[in-house]
Amino acid sequence: MKNDLIGFFDSGVGGISVLHEARRQMPNENFLFYGDNLNAPYGPRPIEEIRALCAAGLDRLLERGVKAIVIACNTATSAYAEIVRAKYPRLPIVGMEPALKPAHFARHGGEVIVLATEATLRLSKFEKLMARYGDDAILVAGHGLVELVEAGRARSPEADARLLELLGPYRGRQVDAIVLGCTHYPFLREGIQRLFPQARLFDGREGTAARLKYLLDTRGLRSDAAPGSIELQSSAGTASIELMRALMASLDDETV
Ligand code: DGL
Repeated sequence: MKNDLIGFFDSGVGGISVLHEARRQMPNENFLFYGDNLNAPYGPRPIEEIRALCAAGLDRLLERGVKAIVIACNTATSAYAEIVRAKYPRLPIVGMEPALKPAHFARHGGEVIVLATEATLRLSKFEKLMARYGDDAILVAGHGLVELVEAGRARSPEADARLLELLGPYRGRQVDAIVLGCTHYPFLREGIQRLFPQARLFDGREGTAARLKYLLDTRGLRSDAAPGSIELQSSAGTASIELMRALMASLDDETV
């Protein structure tokens, strides 16, 4: 049981940013990552469709007898985490939500921008978070951003142009914090930071990995197999797996 796999799920390559952090915190674990790249992005889809895709994706992990699951996607968490938790009440399942709380506390007189997918922003989970920490946060749906990351174009003139289109209107304001509310967006952080050099960027990677570690620790489920392993799977085949590897490597030399 202890050395069983930990399953990671995302609509595509975004969850690699979370997997990278989990691996950093728990190098002895055996991870299985499944990205549904064929059907990304989930964000613009109706909720019933997102739920059906999540059910199919998570089934693939469950079939492998995973000891825990990380839904490494804010959109999938908002749409499906409660449902899958009710179905498997004994399985540790870690979800994600935009890191609005730390961003809220990092303000010093200025504003917070929340950049997330359309679905994340419109579902009720986010409404509750906004009621607690939102104040008058600026909400921006990141139309087109997931597609750019999925195409391996996170650092490209197209990505910069898209970011400018989405975030440019707020450049004249005092923005203290930007929440990257989608696991694909950490791959765009350079471009976002260039637009707002003074803002602190927040995402849920570290907290999610720490939560997973805590759940495994308290259940005596930490692996003692050294070193651990990573298995990558995709609904879209080898090109997406190559991209996952490249993105994983790009985070090795991240300085934040
Ligand atoms: N990585 C997913 C998230 O965190 C992207 C969602 C999508 O496919 O639109 O929300």
